[in-house]
Amino acid sequence: MKYSSELYELFNSSSNRSIKWKKYFPIYEKLFESYKNKPITFVEIGILDGGSLEIWKKYFGKNSRIIGIDNNPECIKFQNENCEIFIGSQSDPNFWKKFYHQVGNIDIILDDGGHTNDQQIISLINSVQNINNGGLHVVEDIHSSYQKHYGNPYKYSFINFSKKTIDDINSTFPNIKKFDYQLNQLVYSVEFFESIVAFKIDRNLCYENKILENQGFKSNNKDTTLDIRFINFRKKFKYLYKFTTIQKIERIMIKLFYRYKSKKLKNFFK
Ligand SMILES: C[S@@+](CC[C@H](N)C(=O)[O-])C[C@H]1O[C@@H](n2cnc3c(N)ncnc32)[C@H](O)[C@@H]1O
Repeated sequence: MKYSSELYELFNSSSNRSIKWKKYFPIYEKLFESYKNKPITFVEIGILDGGSLEIWKKYFGKNSRIIGIDNNPECIKFQNENCEIFIGSQSDPNFWKKFYHQVGNIDIILDDGGHTNDQQIISLINSVQNINNGGLHVVEDIHSSYQKHYGNPYKYSFINFSKKTIDDINSTFPNIKKFDYQLNQLVYSVEFFESIVAFKIDRNLCYENKILENQGFKSNNKDTTLDIRFINFRKKFKYLYKFTTIQKIERIMIKLFYRYKSKKLKNFFK
């Protein structure tokens, strides 16, 4: 497919080499467009030949602060008036501590570093609290989570960690089990693309959910939702529910009922 965009043009014309996958360009444009020409701090892990830093500066504009991170000390040569360079390993929590102490909060971080599970997970959990509301933590080349030469597929792969954040986000619903590492206070949403996962940070939108009912006309229509029928049944036989055995029996019955109803669903999970 022929593809053209401002970012793709910048990629094709950069003086230093950059290596990116073709499908990334429309994704970058979708994720990053609203940050163009704003005074943002953009960080990329993984410098290699410095080409991508050059591209990001042109893309985000003169008011942007562009920072590159690499564990190869030779990359310091790419430091110039357009970008700052930090040397250190993304899998070292101490590096991140010093980095954020020196740099302050950032708006976007793009992880194109070493692509191993520990590098990607450690970078994410050490960065999210230092990203401004409305900012992004974007991890690319996450196909590594499926590749044998990265020791994957594996229970503790980056993609499995990302899937876990879906549970974290849903745990802001009242009375749903909370997890040990609570990204749910920082990560508002997660977007999955082929080879890329984007975490949107917004503390202000991570509040606990609450049911609302407006003042509109209430007809006497029966609500056929199963859940509501269970609740109504419980209300009707309230006197029985003071016995914990009854509550336990109800829980078992509900479980069995849903298990039976979903028997055919296992075909969708193949
Ligand atoms: C895929 S290249 C980066 C490509 C570059 N972003 C581009 O668009 O052209 C990966 C880079 O990550 C760096 N790297 C590997 N392991 C790292 C680590 N633990 N910490 C920081 N950088 C690392 C490598 O030295 C290499 O320069």
